Formats: sequence, C-alpha cells, structure tokens
Amino acid sequence: MVKDDELLVGLDIGTTKICVVVGKGSEGKVSIVGIGSHPSTGLRKGVVVNMDSTVNSIKKAVEEAELMAGIKIDSCLAGIGGGHIKSFNSNGVVAIKDKEVKAEDIARAIDAAKAVAIPADRELIHVIPQEFIVDDQDGIKDPVGITGVRLEVKVHIVTGNISSAQNIIKCCKLAGLTVDDIILGQLASAEATLTPEEKEIGAALVDIGGGTSDIAVFSNGSIKYTSVLPFGGNSITNDIAIGLRTPIDDAEKIKKKYGCAFSNMVGANETIEVPSVGGRKPRTLQRKTLADIIEPRVEEVAGLIYEEIKKSGQEKLLASGVIITGGCANLEGMPELAESIFNLPARRGSPMGVGGLVDVVNNPAYATGVGLLIYGFKNTKGRRRGFDAGRSMKRLFSGQKLLNRMGEWFKEIF
Ligand SMILES: Nc1ncnc2c1ncn2[C@@H]1O[C@H](COP(=O)(O)OP(=O)(O)OP(=O)(O)O)[C@@H](O)[C@H]1O
Ligand SMILES: [Mg+2]
Repeated sequence: MVKDDELLVGLDIGTTKICVVVGKGSEGKVSIVGIGSHPSTGLRKGVVVNMDSTVNSIKKAVEEAELMAGIKIDSCLAGIGGGHIKSFNSNGVVAIKDKEVKAEDIARAIDAAKAVAIPADRELIHVIPQEFIVDDQDGIKDPVGITGVRLEVKVHIVTGNISSAQNIIKCCKLAGLTVDDIILGQLASAEATLTPEEKEIGAALVDIGGGTSDIAVFSNGSIKYTSVLPFGGNSITNDIAIGLRTPIDDAEKIKKKYGCAFSNMVGANETIEVPSVGGRKPRTLQRKTLADIIEPRVEEVAGLIYEEIKKSGQEKLLASGVIITGGCANLEGMPELAESIFNLPARRGSPMGVGGLVDVVNNPAYATGVGLLIYGFKNTKGRRRGFDAGRSMKRLFSGQKLLNRMGEWFKEIF
C-alpha cells in the first residue's frame, strides 16, 4: 500500500498539454502536493513529433509542479499513448512443479503467455494477469498455495513502437528526468476514475483528449481490452473553425465556453458571439448552430469508440456502463450523447480517491496525471526500472528482472 511520505511524480505527455502531478503517501492514501501544466505543441495524435518543444513544455510543467510542491523533481512515471499501441489477450499453461502453486510457477506461466511473436519494431509495455486457472477451476485471482497439476494464466498484453517509447524517455532525459516506468495512459486514467466495483461488474473507460481517444474495458475486476483511436477534441475544434469561419484559437475558446455535444439540450433562444477572420466584425449566431457542428463529429468518434468496445466482446456485460474522462468529458452533453450511442449508462470521470490538492486536480483532463500516481503507488514500488533511452526495453524484460516485474505485477494487480 501507499507508504507515508513516499513521493511519486506522474508525467502525462498529452497532445494538448503536458501535465506533471506530484503525490505523497499520507495515511495510506495518495495526497496531491503539486501540479504543473503547460500547453503541448510537440505531439501529434499522442506521439512525440517535435523533441525541442516537448522538452521545453516538460521543463515548464516540471518547474511549476516543483514550485507548488516545494521539491526537486528528477524522476517520473510517464504515460504512453498513440495509435501505435496494440493490445491483445494471451494465455500460458505450465505444469505445477510441486503440486502446489508457487510464485515461480506463476512467473513461468506468465512467461509462457508472453512468448508470442512480437514484431521487431515493437516492445512489451504491460503484461497484466487477468485470471488464473488451476486444473479446471477458473476465476482464481491469487493461486499461490492452491493444489493442482496444471496452471494456466490469462493475460492482457500491451505493446507499442520501440521508437515512440524511446522518444518519451529521450525527452524526459533532456528535461532532466529519469523515467522510472512507462504506463499506458488509459490504465492510469482508469485508476483515477473507476471504482473497484465498476471494474468488477464491467465498465468501459473512455479518455477523450485532444488528439486521441483511449479505451479500456474491464470486467470481473480485470482489464479485458485496450485500444487507442487517433481522434480527439482537436477535430471538433477544426470543425468549428471551418463551420463558423473563425480562427482556430477562437474556435477552441468557443467550444469550451458554449459547446454542447447533444444539440437537443440547447435552447432555441440561446445565442453566442463569434469572432470573424480577416478583421471582420464579430457575428451573433444561435448556440444551436454550434451544437449542430459539434454533434456529428462527437457522434462519429463515439461510433468508432463503440466499435472498439464491441471488439472487446464485453459490450453486453458492461453493467456499470461507460465512464468518460479526458478534457473532452468537460463538453456539455457528452455523457448524454454517449448514452444515446452506446445504449449504456454514461458518466463523467474526474480524478477521485486522492487527498491533498483535490480541487486543483478536479478535472477529467487530469485523470491520466493523477492516475499515473495511483498506479505507481500500487504497482511500481520496488521495481523502478530506470528506463534509459539507449537501452532496449527487451533487455529489461529478460531473466531475473522479468521474474521480478511479473511477480510485482501479480502481487499488485489483485
Ligand atoms: N470545457 C471544455 N469543453 C469542451 N472541450 C474541452 C473542455 N476542456 C477541454 N476540452 C478539450 O479537451 C481536449 C484536451 O483534453 P486533454 O487535456 O485530456 O488532452 P491531452 O491529454 O493533452 O491529449 P491526448 O490525450 O489526446 O494526447 C481539447 O480538445 C480541449 O479542447
Ligand atoms: Mg490525454
């Protein structure tokens, strides 16, 4: 559990903002003690495309967080996202050596489950146990000590482009940070916004940011499916800029101030003022016109998200419905539109389960940053990997380190 006074730093490198969240263990809980956020211009659809501006934004966000927390930050847990992320489920079977399951049997089973061909340009980011099966008994969360002859593990494997992960590590290094671990963005967001009950009875987490929509489907308390779609709120802003013939910056402001994803929720008499391009006078328009531009785009993205949720094969089992987080969750009418498309209950997910500067992080846009900390406190203690840009992650996953990491995963996940 969370050790008192232990400090961790989460670094969410997003397409629109880079956010650093500092957390401290306090009375068994994560207490937020600092946050820094700076606009991000060096990423496209969740992937670093400009090192200099990304490094610069990281430095600015770190400085801000350092000032607020009153500490010097030199390491972090970094989030990873982008369309290059590919995930799948796998299983591994081994004979139980001494008729009673031991940690080594579990490590061997997980090793067998991850022994699948992964293309040379990709590497493992997570291998997460979902459940264990001893002989014919399935649904076991912790098989240690159980008697049997055959141990099977079902795992969820997340892979990503080697270069994308290394670019994150390089940016951090240039900004003066070592990366203790790399964590899939939506796994972090889920930690901050879903309750254990929701994960148990089935829920889909959807983090809609500026450049990507990140999906994670949970049931029976474990992760079943993850996926990243290369669409987010930036497409809505572009549509508004084109539809209302207004500059992008104004379109972004208009979206945040007056936007609504569900046009039925907008009154017929509501009007908005829209700046024009080329020095022309501002115009007054019906707010419904704006909602009519936003709704089809959100519908399209929600439709694609639903297709992904269906691919998980769990869509009929999601009794807790859909939890929408990320900056776009702030858009008025978002849960209402999502409910109509998914035919499932939907709610906004803001970071929860933390103490300290709760008001400062009380925004769905901070779900990943806060979640990185919660995930870190739960999972990474004792296995700081010290990622290094020059080193291949594969080596870090070999031999004893692999066993340690698997063992930690196993211990912490359940
Ligand atoms: N109040 C609001 N209403 C509508 N949209 C909003 C609001 N606040 C933020 N957004 C949108 O949320 C998006 C940014 O979300 P977020 O901060 O989660 O993205 P990110 O993490 O930087 O990007 P990504 O996760 O895609 O890499 C932007 O498109 C922004 O316009
Ligand atoms: Mg994000």
